[in-house]
Amino acid sequence: MKIILKIQRFNPETDEEPYFQEYTLDADPNERLLDALMQVKRFQDGSLGFRKSCAHGVCGSDAMRINTKDGLACKTLVKEVVDKEGDTVVLEPLRYLPVRRDLIVDQSDFFNKYRSVKPYLINDEPVAEKERLQSQEERMQFDDTTNCILCASCYSACPVLADNTRFLGPAAIAQAYRFNADTRDRGFKVRLDVLDRADGVWPCQNHFKCTQACPRSILITKRINQTKRLIEKYRGKTKK
Ligand code: SF4
Ligand code: FES
Repeated sequence: MKIILKIQRFNPETDEEPYFQEYTLDADPNERLLDALMQVKRFQDGSLGFRKSCAHGVCGSDAMRINTKDGLACKTLVKEVVDKEGDTVVLEPLRYLPVRRDLIVDQSDFFNKYRSVKPYLINDEPVAEKERLQSQEERMQFDDTTNCILCASCYSACPVLADNTRFLGPAAIAQAYRFNADTRDRGFKVRLDVLDRADGVWPCQNHFKCTQACPRSILITKRINQTKRLIEKYRGKTKK
């Protein structure tokens, strides 16, 4: 089928403003949008900038805005978009992150916020003889969050960040939850300073856009709300 990719272009060295460029190509409806992008890059315009690596929804590098919805180009079939929304597909870089070139954004803010919640197991207690045991039920309390590939689709989909770019954002909070809810972890108080501040968890208004955008079906909004409840419970206890 003939499709048109309408792609936002921007080269900071030569362009004052971003602009759209259209590429018409033959695409198999069962191909992924990433295949279509690679076809453009190989046969029409080698200067087009986008990130990709695994091409199988694992590395998280090809997240972008696809007809104003955030997601992975390698997990989106051409027919899924074209059947519903017409043969012109608009591709833009993720929002709230500076554009380095075309569809490539500078992810530093996203990763700095992620790192700020200390997304790793904190526990200074001596390790049991074999391992730190955990039941299947305990693991299931946060299992979905372990599937995050740090693609930043949720970050770009979040309406709160439109007005407050200091907001910690959905992925960082979900990853804080991943460890706070882990029975082996003891780092809740260490993460509290970052989570329980004006730009921490509280700006979230339950839009659910992050949850809808996540290519790994992580229950992000639920995890943010659970994090708020953990903090409230802790603060309630410490006031007594
Ligand atoms: S929570 Fe989902 S959308 Fe957000 S970074 Fe992780 S995988 Fe991507
Ligand atoms: S290229 Fe790795 S997730 Fe799409």
